[in-house]
Amino acid sequence: MDAKTDAKGKAGTLTVGNKNWDFPVYKGTIGPDVVDIAKLYAESGMFTYDPGFTSTASCESKITYIDGDEGILLYRGYPIEQLAEHGDFLETCYLLLYGELPTPAQKVDFDYRVNRHTMVHEQMMRFFQGFRRDAHPMAVMTGCVGALSAFYHDSTDISDPHQRMIASIRMIAKMPTLAAMAYKYSIGQPFMYPRNDLDYASNFLRMCYAVPTEDYKANPVLARAMDRIFILHADHEQNASTSTVRLAGSSGANPFACIAAGCACLWGPAHGGANEAALNMLSEIGRVERIPEFIKRAKDKNDPFRLMGFGHRVYKHYDPRAKIMQKTCHEVLNELGIKDDPLLDVAMELEKIALHDDYFVEKKLYPNIDFYSGITLKAMGFPTTMFTVLFAVARTVGWIAQWKEMIEDPKQKIGRPRQLYTGATRRDYVPISRRK
Ligand code: SDX
Repeated sequence: MDAKTDAKGKAGTLTVGNKNWDFPVYKGTIGPDVVDIAKLYAESGMFTYDPGFTSTASCESKITYIDGDEGILLYRGYPIEQLAEHGDFLETCYLLLYGELPTPAQKVDFDYRVNRHTMVHEQMMRFFQGFRRDAHPMAVMTGCVGALSAFYHDSTDISDPHQRMIASIRMIAKMPTLAAMAYKYSIGQPFMYPRNDLDYASNFLRMCYAVPTEDYKANPVLARAMDRIFILHADHEQNASTSTVRLAGSSGANPFACIAAGCACLWGPAHGGANEAALNMLSEIGRVERIPEFIKRAKDKNDPFRLMGFGHRVYKHYDPRAKIMQKTCHEVLNELGIKDDPLLDVAMELEKIALHDDYFVEKKLYPNIDFYSGITLKAMGFPTTMFTVLFAVARTVGWIAQWKEMIEDPKQKIGRPRQLYTGATRRDYVPISRRK
């Protein structure tokens, strides 16, 4: 971090009433500068106030950069379009974890290390027996991911770099296995073990769709689409679930518990649950003729309805991932011979209308990654309840890379925000016998 005050002695000045306070301004490599207000409370007795953190940088990071106005997304400086086009998911995992693209030898070694951690402890199967078959798979994932820390004590010492990396590899390797187990359990089919001779996405599809009674080979077009969907969802700066993982990790909680916290946060419909909600919304709209009715509802202040899959806290232009997701959606539908998917017709007409409607243009509401992912995943055979689980599988590498970066930051301390208190002032207890 290049502190501007060192270079030009400049600082940010806060003036409240007739008082001024100077704070250092730091400049990143790209993106907005930041004002370091860490000493604000000590010097002024005031807190900043920013519910939803719309103008707050919670940390310094070198992992992912987003430019919401230009629709730019970089993983360690590489554009998402190039990584999605030319790379594979485990290469992206290596990049996010280590900061550089792997050499051929490093890629072979990394793939080997991940592949040999894909099995989960055999006793984990008993966890599934405790869930109802109709339990939401995200409930199962959140429970089982947290339980991993009960099985892998040898990678929970966060002060040991070797254990931090082993825990990272274990999380990346075991999430697809747990996700596939959650799916199989929900449909009453036997679990399928991972295979070391398959690539990450093919292994996952096989664990989801193979049965012990016959051979299974993943459709290469669908496997490539799955791999690309994982790349698109791998990391996204300080989004809600990543911030949850960082905050949980700042207390020294073990990485498995932190990832479980990230899963819980991702589940919300405003965040990772939007892909499931977006598909449910398209199904509710049902046909193109009903779109105006829903557009009207989305604009109605008194109606809590929102167009799921639209809008973003950072992207005030098109989400670059949505474009790639749309292209992948068409590839999958073509491969599966799905010519006239009514949901896709509704989605494309809804997008066209929304992109030209004053309300959405003025509020800069564009389709986000969740808008097309649901149609794609449904076409691939996943039930809507599995959509956020797939998001969690992909985002695990982002969560764990950000967690590692935080733990390895010498300036790291426990996150503990303050508040604006507007509750009751001090008052004395009244015994119940004297209350009316
Ligand atoms: C993800 O942060 C990330 O990076 C997340 C993510 C990642 O990779 O980690 O990109 C993944 O979570 C994508 C977003 C998925 N969520 C949805 O698709 C749910 C629908 N979208 C919204 O709920 C909303 O757009 C958010 C939550 C995504 C962003 O909300 P903000 O930034 O807090 O904006 P806001 O709620 O303050 O909305 C601003 C205005 C409001 O109107 P006013 O009160 O100013 O009059 O826009 C309106 C909102 O009512 N608005 C919408 C809308 N989204 C915002 N109106 C209709 N439909 C919508 N979808």
